Amino acid sequence: MPVITTIDDLKRIYKRRTPKMFYDYAETGSWTEQTFRENTSDFDRIRLRQRVAVDMTNRTTKTQMIGQDVAMPVALAPVGLTGMQCADGEIKAAKAAEKFGVPFTLSTLSICSIEDVAENTTKPFWFQVYTLKDDDFMRRLFDRARDAGCSAIVITLDLQVQGQRHKDLKNGLSAPPKLTMASIANLATKWGWGLQMLQTKRRTFGNVIGHAKGVSDPSSLSSWTAEAFDHALDWKRVADLMKMWGGKVILKGIMDVEDAKMAAKLGADAIIVSNHGGRQLDGALSSIRMLPAILDAVGDKVEVHLDSGIRSGQDVLKAMAMGAKGTYIGRAFVYGLGAMGEKGVTTALNVIHKELDTTMALCGKRDIQDVDRDILLVPKYFEGSWA
Ligand code: GLV
Repeated sequence: MPVITTIDDLKRIYKRRTPKMFYDYAETGSWTEQTFRENTSDFDRIRLRQRVAVDMTNRTTKTQMIGQDVAMPVALAPVGLTGMQCADGEIKAAKAAEKFGVPFTLSTLSICSIEDVAENTTKPFWFQVYTLKDDDFMRRLFDRARDAGCSAIVITLDLQVQGQRHKDLKNGLSAPPKLTMASIANLATKWGWGLQMLQTKRRTFGNVIGHAKGVSDPSSLSSWTAEAFDHALDWKRVADLMKMWGGKVILKGIMDVEDAKMAAKLGADAIIVSNHGGRQLDGALSSIRMLPAILDAVGDKVEVHLDSGIRSGQDVLKAMAMGAKGTYIGRAFVYGLGAMGEKGVTTALNVIHKELDTTMALCGKRDIQDVDRDILLVPKYFEGSWA
């Protein structure tokens, strides 16, 4: 059994065990992948202030996100096709999150359905929706999420049209994978993955197949986004959807001060500063660079969360010290899931927690809720000076 000490260790095992098509799906950004790369490299530019002779006993990483207790401020982000990274992946990830005490967010583009996850967990999870043209489908999704006991919805605002990810096109990404010479040759080397997939019935988009109308190839992510997503989305529609749900709402994909102000004005419970992990607008700033300006504008009006680029507990601490009230991991938990199922997600959470807790201690802090900008060394002009 390998000794896992970092998220990168999990990534190496994940890469070995998972079909190329799904590894590439997770490990990609759009076009040149500039934003995808900078999401992580910008975190590395921020340094930490070492403090000594500070009482480090009784440390805690416990806090709240949208009023819910969390063991650490790290939710599992909605990731499409998670159940292709590992059989029944969403159920396994949700179970790991529940046991750890952090929120799990189910993607609309999951393989396991809302009902599958609800039946296999005991605590409410969050449900992510895209903004779709079909109002009936949206209503039904909300009803299903309500029936499943979901405690919040996360509305993705930055994917009306899909950013192009070259690898997905080249691989012919679909769920289940279409059998071509190349995919068969690759699948033949991933027998552990294949054996588990043969034992589950969940091999395509569980929230969509049998529920959505008028999509020519529901197994294809690109057909679904091109045909079903609402290109006409505006803030009025966002407000209508918030009303349609009637419960807690997190608005995801905010990368601009004006958009943050609108989201706050609509009364969102939280916003997520996110560029979709660098998968949508290539050339957008990294989330961590954008965070300070958004906090300055709306930090006192709405809870501000961050995703895109978090690969360690140190990244979590940096975002929290800047002023975020919560963070999300996507790829970091997918690496664990693909490497070793539920246990791998738990390992990813443990790695991040340990890094967060130890770093907090070495910065002289005992409580995650007390960390502030004071522990950070941020390069001058970190946010950039853009005309
Ligand atoms: C879906 O949201 C994706 O980024 O593929």
